[in-house]
Amino acid sequence: MPLLDKYAVFGHPINHSKSPRIHQLFAEQTQQQLSYEAQDVPADSFESAVQQFLEQGGKGLNCTVPLKELAWQRAEYLSKRAQFSKAVNTLILQEDGSLLGDNTDGIGLVADLTNNHSISLSDCRILILGAGGASRGIIEPLMQQSPKNIVIANRTVEKAITLSHDFAQLGDIKGFSYENIKTQQFDLILNATSASLTGELPPLGQNILAKNGCCYDLAYANKPTAFVLWGQTQKARKSLDGLGMLVEQAAEAFYCWRGIRPETSAVIDLLNAERA
Ligand code: ATR
Repeated sequence: MPLLDKYAVFGHPINHSKSPRIHQLFAEQTQQQLSYEAQDVPADSFESAVQQFLEQGGKGLNCTVPLKELAWQRAEYLSKRAQFSKAVNTLILQEDGSLLGDNTDGIGLVADLTNNHSISLSDCRILILGAGGASRGIIEPLMQQSPKNIVIANRTVEKAITLSHDFAQLGDIKGFSYENIKTQQFDLILNATSASLTGELPPLGQNILAKNGCCYDLAYANKPTAFVLWGQTQKARKSLDGLGMLVEQAAEAFYCWRGIRPETSAVIDLLNAERA
């Protein structure tokens, strides 16, 4: 029997990861012979775990919290979008044995918004909540869609301002405190904070979502997150969580590894049905 090409996702914690299921569904759909496993890897064992994985013939890795910056440092080469984001969620083994680092999170978000939910980003006033790694990973792909502007709001306002300066060459991007966005309005509000993980909500004003505006939480859970519920109270046209983004970023990683783009809508429908 031919050996299966070996892939994995590293993270800590990792036991609830949906990535093995998603990649197994992609492999079946595209008739690719591969294995994909989740491996619990704390940050201090990342280097040795990557080494061991490569020695065992591994072809590619996904890296999730808290390993994306370490993966960025580990990669010998970086795609343009990974250079910008300073975070890598996909490592691709090259023919010469080196690792190419890519970041498919932002393109996954844009694909879910525009293809799956028909939310046009062109001329859109976008608010990003949070100024950590998740925000850094989505700004460049969002700017490629020609929004009117991007505002970043963060509890620690200095981080929002620093992030806006890092991307200023791409267009109109500004950083504010939550207090200073209370009088502004946005067509799309993206929650890129880690607040959802603890059931918390960033301190948002009551009238910041424009009429017909949409809300999107980069996090996902089996129940609606606090931010998805907030969007519903603000009469958002759509208030969505990040399950679609998860499947879309996985599809882009699969494409990087295998050169075949899986069809995503059936997989998203299946995962949505499973959590219902
Ligand atoms: P990630 O890589 O997931 O982005 P991170 O780099 O630790 O994680 O960033 C977490 C982000 O969520 C930060 O912007 C953080 O705000 P601060 O920089 O002010 O700490 C934000 N965050 C976390 N919990 C929050 C909460 N309860 N309300 C508002 N923002 C929160």
